[in-house]
Amino acid sequence: MALLLHLNDVNEEKWANSLSIALAPYAVLKRNDNYNAKDINYIFAWKADNNAFDNLPNLKAVFSLGAGVDALLKHENLPKNVPIVRFVDKDLSQCMSDYVIAHVLMHHRLFTHYDSEQKTKQWQQYFPPPASKRNVGIMGLGELGLGAIKRLKPLGFSLHGWSNSAKNIKDVKSYVGVKEFDTFLANTDILVNLLPLTKQTAHILNYENFKKLKRSKHFAPVIINAARGGHQKETDIIKALNDSTLGAASLDVFEVEPLPKDSPLWSIKNCYITPHIAAISNVQTGVKYFAKILTDHEAGKPLINLVDIKKGY
Ligand code: NDP
Ligand code: OXD
Repeated sequence: MALLLHLNDVNEEKWANSLSIALAPYAVLKRNDNYNAKDINYIFAWKADNNAFDNLPNLKAVFSLGAGVDALLKHENLPKNVPIVRFVDKDLSQCMSDYVIAHVLMHHRLFTHYDSEQKTKQWQQYFPPPASKRNVGIMGLGELGLGAIKRLKPLGFSLHGWSNSAKNIKDVKSYVGVKEFDTFLANTDILVNLLPLTKQTAHILNYENFKKLKRSKHFAPVIINAARGGHQKETDIIKALNDSTLGAASLDVFEVEPLPKDSPLWSIKNCYITPHIAAISNVQTGVKYFAKILTDHEAGKPLINLVDIKKGY
């Protein structure tokens, strides 16, 4: 009985050491260790190679290091009928809402604008309205979207949320599905994307949708994408920033990561780039979380935070 780690682009050694301590005497293995594949009951994966799941006949679950499982679900050799547990974590949600708050406030208070005026020593007063008159629309009301709403609410913003199923959240106007999407956009000054990447949500951040956002005399709409690069059409963002369909964009994720050096996004005015750091799975809380899930499951308890493979999130 063992847990196999298959983590790319993170410090696998660090995760292995901490998981070994937390799960001892349960075996924690890395790809290059000597082991019998029949002994592997759980695999902990991130950016899995093509052969990651080959010849593992006794898998009880796949653990996803990421909250987002789009890449895992697209994996050509993902075993069928094996449950997938994704990462859900208080610290992760807090980091995401920290990012969202920072960018919402930055755009709301026009700091981006003043930053460029400072560079040319201009003293020109613009007066942003109070937060209650600024509509923030959150796409995706799951773990991260709800976490962001909880932290934005005390700041006084007018909050709007869009999801697949209806939500009843105090002081938040809820919009559901495709039929209410345009109304949601029409009521949004600052659009925050916290959707999972699925067939339905791919390229949702496109020019046509940017045109539908609320537009006022002194504020062109803003987008904040902290979910997946596959949600955005970067050529459309560039066009929209250049012709002022969008006032600004904060982007943490990109169609290709790392963002290629020749991408125009790097130098476009009012585009604020971070290198996919909005909320990173943390070893300390992650080890505690997955070790508990594995131990509980071995003790006969059901797995939690399972991915609905049909829905794609
Ligand atoms: P959840 O699965 O908890 O929430 C997803 C939400 O999106 C749900 O409210 C769901 O609606 C809604 N949704 C899904 N599909 C649609 C659709 N077609 N139309 C309308 N609403 C839809 O996900 P999390 O909040 O945990 O994470 C969201 C994403 O954030 C992850 O998938 C990942 O890609 C990204 N992420 C990015 C990070 C970064 O550092 N940049 C870090 C961590 C995650 P309903 O509630 O009705 O099901
Ligand atoms: C995630 C991520 O999905 O880091 O957790 O993007």
